Amino acid sequence: MIEQKCKLDFLLGIDVGLTGTKLGCGEGGCGACTVMISYFDEQSKRSVHHAINACLAPLYSVEGMHVITVEGIGNSQHGLHPIQESLAQAHGSQCGFCTPGFVMSMYALLRSSGEPPTEEQIEESLAGNLCRCTGYRPILDAFRVFAKTDDLLYTKTSLESNSAGELICPSSGKPCSCGKGTANRRDDSVCVKQYSPVLYNKIDGSLFVEKELIFPPELILRKNMPLCLHGFGGVKWYRPLKLQHVLDLKSRYPDAKLVVGNTEVGIETKFKNAQYQVLISVTHVPELNILSMNENGLDIGASVRLTLLQQFLRKVIMQHPVEETSSSKAILRQLKWFAGNQIKNVASIGGNICTASPISDLNPLWMAAGAIMRIMNCKGNVRTIPAKEFFLGYRKVDLANDEVLLSVFLPWTRSLEFVKEFKQAHRREDDIALVNAGMRVLLKQDCGSWEVSDVSIIYGGVAAVSLIASKTESFLIKKKWDNNLLQGALKILQEDIVLTEDAPGGMIEFRKSLILSFFFKFFSWVTNEMYEKGSFNEGLHGKHLSAIQAYSRPQTSGIQSYDLTRHETAVGQPAIHLSSKLQVTGEAEYIDDMPHPPQALHAALVLSKRAHARILSIDDTMAKSSPGFVGLFLYRDIPGSNKIGVILKDEELFASEIVTCVGQVVGVVVADTHDNAKIASNKVHIEYEDLPAILSIREAVRSCSFYPNTERWLMKGDVELCFKSGECDKIIEGEVQVGGQEHFYLEPNSSLIWPVDGGNEVHMVSSTQCPQYHQECVAHVLGLPLAKVVCKTKRIGGGFGGKESRSAFIAAAASVPSYLLRRPVKIILDRDTDMMITGQRHSFLGKYKVGFTTAGEVLALDLQLYNNGGNSIDLSLAVLERAMFHSDNVYDVPNMRVRGQVCYTNFPSNTAFRGFGGPQGMLIAENWIQRIAMELQRSPEEIRELNFHNEGSMLHYGMLLQSCTLSQLWDELKTSCDFVKARAIVNHFNVHNRWRKRGVAMVPTKFGISFTTKHMNQAGALVQVYTDGTVLVTHGGVEMGQGLHTKVAQIAASAFNIPLSSVFISDTSTDKVPNASPTAASASSDLYGAAVLDACEQIKARMQCIAATKTHSSFAELVRACYLERIDLSAHGFYITPNIGFNWKVGKGTPFNYFTYGAAFAEVEIDTLTGDFYTREADIIMDLGHSLNPAIDVGQIEGAFVQGLGWIALEELKWGDADHKWIRPGHLYTSGPGTYKIPTANDIPVKFKVSLLKGVQNPKAIHSSKAVGEPPFFLASAVLFAIKDAIVAARAEEGYHDWFPLDNPATPERIRMACIDDFTKQVASHNFHPKLSV
Ligand SMILES: Cc1cc2nc3c(=O)[nH]c(=O)nc-3n(C[C@H](O)[C@H](O)[C@H](O)COP(=O)(O)OP(=O)(O)OC[C@H]3O[C@@H](n4cnc5c(N)ncnc54)[C@H](O)[C@@H]3O)c2cc1C
Ligand code: FES
Ligand code: FES
Repeated sequence: MIEQKCKLDFLLGIDVGLTGTKLGCGEGGCGACTVMISYFDEQSKRSVHHAINACLAPLYSVEGMHVITVEGIGNSQHGLHPIQESLAQAHGSQCGFCTPGFVMSMYALLRSSGEPPTEEQIEESLAGNLCRCTGYRPILDAFRVFAKTDDLLYTKTSLESNSAGELICPSSGKPCSCGKGTANRRDDSVCVKQYSPVLYNKIDGSLFVEKELIFPPELILRKNMPLCLHGFGGVKWYRPLKLQHVLDLKSRYPDAKLVVGNTEVGIETKFKNAQYQVLISVTHVPELNILSMNENGLDIGASVRLTLLQQFLRKVIMQHPVEETSSSKAILRQLKWFAGNQIKNVASIGGNICTASPISDLNPLWMAAGAIMRIMNCKGNVRTIPAKEFFLGYRKVDLANDEVLLSVFLPWTRSLEFVKEFKQAHRREDDIALVNAGMRVLLKQDCGSWEVSDVSIIYGGVAAVSLIASKTESFLIKKKWDNNLLQGALKILQEDIVLTEDAPGGMIEFRKSLILSFFFKFFSWVTNEMYEKGSFNEGLHGKHLSAIQAYSRPQTSGIQSYDLTRHETAVGQPAIHLSSKLQVTGEAEYIDDMPHPPQALHAALVLSKRAHARILSIDDTMAKSSPGFVGLFLYRDIPGSNKIGVILKDEELFASEIVTCVGQVVGVVVADTHDNAKIASNKVHIEYEDLPAILSIREAVRSCSFYPNTERWLMKGDVELCFKSGECDKIIEGEVQVGGQEHFYLEPNSSLIWPVDGGNEVHMVSSTQCPQYHQECVAHVLGLPLAKVVCKTKRIGGGFGGKESRSAFIAAAASVPSYLLRRPVKIILDRDTDMMITGQRHSFLGKYKVGFTTAGEVLALDLQLYNNGGNSIDLSLAVLERAMFHSDNVYDVPNMRVRGQVCYTNFPSNTAFRGFGGPQGMLIAENWIQRIAMELQRSPEEIRELNFHNEGSMLHYGMLLQSCTLSQLWDELKTSCDFVKARAIVNHFNVHNRWRKRGVAMVPTKFGISFTTKHMNQAGALVQVYTDGTVLVTHGGVEMGQGLHTKVAQIAASAFNIPLSSVFISDTSTDKVPNASPTAASASSDLYGAAVLDACEQIKARMQCIAATKTHSSFAELVRACYLERIDLSAHGFYITPNIGFNWKVGKGTPFNYFTYGAAFAEVEIDTLTGDFYTREADIIMDLGHSLNPAIDVGQIEGAFVQGLGWIALEELKWGDADHKWIRPGHLYTSGPGTYKIPTANDIPVKFKVSLLKGVQNPKAIHSSKAVGEPPFFLASAVLFAIKDAIVAARAEEGYHDWFPLDNPATPERIRMACIDDFTKQVASHNFHPKLSV
């Protein structure tokens, strides 16, 4: 045995100077930390490769293995790996923080497949990787070139037609309709950028040997050794190689924790403060890794990893008679929806079983399938126990301290024995179940009728343990399999499984309905199976087959259509993101990748645990004795001012007497390491006296808890008069709740701050959209002049508004110890802390009264808006104002009054998020439009079209609408999606399917471009031309993945008529370009592009006298000549947006420079019994004028749409409020990827088409382009309204035709509960409204 002293660290925590592997969440939920491990498998005599999450992998779990990180497969110096190259070329990397993880997942898939993978395998392999920027389509396209296909077209990149005359789309290599179907397609329009597919043999590790890292031969020869490692604090880690050794250790250390994949133990130790003194890794014990079959069934060793089980079951199913493998199939199907591959590659069945989680996906199936657990004690005695009896309580199994689980025996199913799995989660992929189930029945014929001879009905997610529906089981025995049985069972199930009102997890009505829906599905499925086997004469009625159709998603395909309007200049070209090649190799540096300066300390925040309370005392005794502790700093230590705020200084950097939300910063601890700082900060003990807290908009409105001077109004016409005039045939009133959204940028907030010249100056690098505000905030807190504080930002791993203002207090907190101790301090927030304290998209409450004619014309709208500001005003007033500006969306309402007010609540301050209130205002508008349509029994699209603004419309804030391309876009979209046909096909589908419904919707948008605060519409830039002809540009904007630097470089390259490769963009820095506004409001390319152009033009004007001699054969020669003539080759450019301004006193003005328009079509399908849905198609058209870079703009549209899809359908913030009593007051339950579900690659539209309107100009912005970042976000609401359309069809089946509310996000809970049927009626009233934290 090898004995060693070591640190039992996680693989990701090891500092070996590599920057590629990123820490996005630390809990196995984002895939940013994906690496590949390889080892030699003694049995198969081959090397095995797979992707794992480095954040959960204990360092010593990879002992004897080959670990490959993204750096190992290619780099910019020696050449990119084809996967990296393809991803960069396909525009699959925006902010780049997720990118190495995607590369490594794909790499591991290719290395582990014996042959090229299928497209389905590729999509599946990415289930554990999240990207917040791209919308996934370009990533899938980039990787699709490695897929297996029989289609020879894959090996070509031609845009030509194939022999059948079909146009070949180079993104998929398959025939596509992008040319034919698109209206007005011209010869110079392209559907996508071309890139070369790669032959599999180039990357499979055999033929690509020159560059490919081969499996180290010494690891083939090396024999595994037992390990015994001693960590700090007496922790012991054993890795025995024999079962007997495990038993010996267990008898020596009865409390020892067995560990396999560490996906459960790792979470317990990292997030739940669990501490284990002795850990026994049983990954290498042969007896626990058996996978065998005999005449009775399968033996599956406890350490068997889930992916191996999948492979084994696939083989078993192929080799065995169908009737024997019903259980195997059910387990295999369930495993498809079990975590991402990185988790399944290490997680074991024993780990899943012994954790005994109430939401384990497999335990209900083991129980239902009649599996038997084999257990061995330290003396070597073996006992068996049925799975049904093994689970004793919450995370408790029938295992004594001296016992280990050896294996699970899964019996073959018998003839006419059926086993079925069920799982409903928030998100289909990589999510834990809300309710799951395993069900089994054996039918036998008795006197001509089919009776239940044996049955098991087990539910997960409904109690502390997987629950046996024993009364239902007893009821079912000997019953005839018919409708009476179904009805009887549904009744008894409700007695069997009782969910109390305050049950953890909430969603009681939904979970109860799932219990019934699942059984109904099981009944229907078995009936159908019996019919198909010829045992039943009658099967399901055709329409009811939809109850059992399994979700199946074809592979995603994307079409992008745009004109290439400018030729031979960099502007207008679909150039790839300037940093993408560094991002795909992991060479691009973010704050966490920067080397620690000498003497650097790490900071962790001391946070309030109460929503509203008086601080009685702060005790730091325990913290002070914590390892590595250096100091605790509180409000009284602040050298300058404790009052901060981006507009109003209404917040305290460190709470002094009162805390006003959970997560408010009370102080900061610094220590030698990040972990030690965290540990010490958790040991600071604070005594509180609770005060009443306001935890929702409604509570705020009830108690008039508004921010002072935030009451706003806008008016057009006379609303009251119109309501009274009798012109309106109908007047309706209603409310719309709009849910918030977490930014979920992949790179958490981070800053590194260091004193210069003994603290006379302070410098920092920060992940922020606004270095200027970091500079200001830190200077203010430290009492330094602005000129002595510098903030730099090279790139950030996503921002989306979340790092506009709410990143500064984090830097400021860390600046205090840095300044006082005169030492560098680094602060990186953990994902859960970041989500908990930095604020989100504002939730809104809208109350409307709308009057309209029977023809559908809207005559008057009276609207009251409230947004949830949280505990400081931050940007909430500006967010409210933008919501008010956008509350007409695209509709011309002659009489309109919009009032708004910002609510003060005891939540962390809400803040900017893509769209900045605009989407909330527009969503409320689309709600009343949709309601009018339902009142009039007309389609919402008709009502929309009828009320469109036209050229020259006067908006409700006194701005004239000019160059309005709305109708043109709308008409093109109608043609492109063939709306009439789509509607007819959907209607036909709905008539023939009772339990699955489809819906369609078309939604328009108009988004105002400019900061609505006038002075912010200014921009500076510095352009420096060097004597070799290269150009360095520094401007005030921040690159956060949106391609700003690329567009700006294109503008500079075009201005000087030089190649794009000659232009470089420097870090954004407050000492180069001062007083820069945040990179926000979509306007940065307009602003900084124009400022850069101004600087270039100045330099060009100076060079003109030399250039006019025309004696220079290159730009470099010209520059050199100018230099020799002592011409200044550096210029500062400046730009202000002209003719804008708004006067809130009169509610009139021109807040926007122009509008970006768009429209989207969506088609969805829902499962009315579970609330599951998927987007079958999205077709988006946007007017972006003459795009500066159409590929980047398409990327922004796709990314915004998918992020919007998260907002409207997936991402629910759950706060401890009156509606969520099971969460502690003011706490955020959804504070990590485990509970908060952003879209995965599996959630994007199956057919995803993006077109840019052709032949349109925009004289108001640089090079006739238009801003793009925020405008497409709202278009995802087409998905919400398509879902609603589908629900309308479902409700009509039950005779419900009235309007009903559907809040965003339209989660499975909301969809399911809106689809009223016999099952929902048993658990809730027909107008049940699921709870939402707003
Ligand atoms: C991101 C993520 C996603 C997840 N998704 C899902 C999901 O979709 N569905 C789901 O059901 N679960 C899910 N899980 C939970 C978890 O991954 C599984 O339960 C996994 O199978 C645990 O296996 P492991 O080998 O990693 O367990 P470990 O963490 O290594 O061990 C877990 C427990 O099992 C005990 N144990 C292990 N082997 C034995 C043995 N032979 N005898 C006695 N005790 C033993 C250990 O002592 C420990 O208490 C997820 C977890 C993460 C982090
Ligand atoms: S950092 Fe490891 S999965 Fe997120
Ligand atoms: S590029 Fe994927 S998270 Fe930014």
